[in-house]
Amino acid sequence: MIKIKNERQIEGIRASCALLSSLYDELAPMIRPGVTPLDLDEHARAFIERHGGRPAFLGYEGYPATLCISVNEVVIHGIPNSRPFAEGDIVGIDCGIDLDGYYSDAAFTLPVGEISADAKDLLRVTKECLDLAIRTIQPGIRISDISRAVFSHAVRHGYGVVRQYCGHGVGLEIHEDPQIPNYVSPGPNPRLMPGMVLAIEPMINLGTGDVRVLDDGWTVVTMDRSLSAHYEHTVLVTKNGCEVLTRWNAGL
Ligand code: MF3
Ligand code: CO
Repeated sequence: MIKIKNERQIEGIRASCALLSSLYDELAPMIRPGVTPLDLDEHARAFIERHGGRPAFLGYEGYPATLCISVNEVVIHGIPNSRPFAEGDIVGIDCGIDLDGYYSDAAFTLPVGEISADAKDLLRVTKECLDLAIRTIQPGIRISDISRAVFSHAVRHGYGVVRQYCGHGVGLEIHEDPQIPNYVSPGPNPRLMPGMVLAIEPMINLGTGDVRVLDDGWTVVTMDRSLSAHYEHTVLVTKNGCEVLTRWNAGL
């Protein structure tokens, strides 16, 4: 069942998303050579708690951190560790906040210093996938219209689209109905209505779209170890279109 949020709930979700956006404004400039994923994770946890929120991923199905930090061939769910970022890396940051019971979810991928031309193209096109998907969103379209916007743009550039993980409804929980695949799937295909809140999140690989989970039970890597990028916004469906609730100044 897809929950339609009322005005009060939308205000709560908006506040949670605003807090996540301001966290990202702080984290983005910290992504530099020598900084470690654990540095960012500690910063994020302290920031969220100082502002009265709770890291939504921490403890979720046993996940051990505030952030997912996914470097290079890691697609999503990278567990923050002490390996410093190095020039040429691409770093994906994913975070959710529970603020007074209202949930936000967003992700971005940034370069560390100078990166390869291939990596630059991958970041640009993956972000374009998210932007194109958001531009299709208005009442009456179907989930598959979002999926098609992502998939067709990625495939046009010869990239692999990750199928094992999807976008999702969000707001009163971190994961709600509907699932939002990044490819046109034969599954349920509801129409959008005002008051739906969706997390749109293309995960796009330079090589094959196939992925596997490492032995830690979380870290998702590309099967061929090619680079992977991930961007995500929490978006409210409105009467005439949509509103991106997780806008931040840096990164996106
Ligand atoms: N950001 C992920 C998503 O969009 C959720 C991470 S799951 C966690 O679905 F377990 F790591 F929290
Ligand atoms: Co998400």
